[in-house]
Amino acid sequence: MSRILFICLGNICRSPMAEAVMRKLVKERGLEAKYEIDSAGLISYHEGEGADPRMKFHAKRHGYLLTHISRPVREMDFDLFDLIVSMDDSNWERLHRLAPTVEAETKIVRMTDYCRTHVIDHVPDPYYGGDQGFENVIEILEDACEGLLEELEKLEGKV
Ligand code: 4NP
Repeated sequence: MSRILFICLGNICRSPMAEAVMRKLVKERGLEAKYEIDSAGLISYHEGEGADPRMKFHAKRHGYLLTHISRPVREMDFDLFDLIVSMDDSNWERLHRLAPTVEAETKIVRMTDYCRTHVIDHVPDPYYGGDQGFENVIEILEDACEGLLEELEKLEGKV
């Protein structure tokens, strides 16, 4: 069982989208029993809210239903999850400050390190931008989640 936690700032745009993309990929491949997938944010400002309506709208256009309710990341997440996936450098740095141990820090990775077609180092925050930003997030996350799942399956010697 691999437990994956996607992290962004507010947990209403990028990380719930990553969670939905990963869930769909895992389901399509019949791997649901092997993966536990969740998302969380670095701020609690949107705690208890569903995803941003703009993210939901664009997600739906691509066949994803966003049902996640925003929650802040907690110290115990570093015990509960095997991989903590950050969307940008700011997330990555804040996660390192939150990690309770050096071992916990080794679980933190960057989403874009798994991209296979995009050459980028972060998933741009779409919150203050327009429609294209949200479309861009989905395109990047589809690329990155495919790469991540392939990597994890390879580690198990299954691909
Ligand atoms: P996310 O986007 O980190 O992808 O969920 C944002 C959501 C909320 C805010 C910023 C980014 N905010 O400033 O409230």
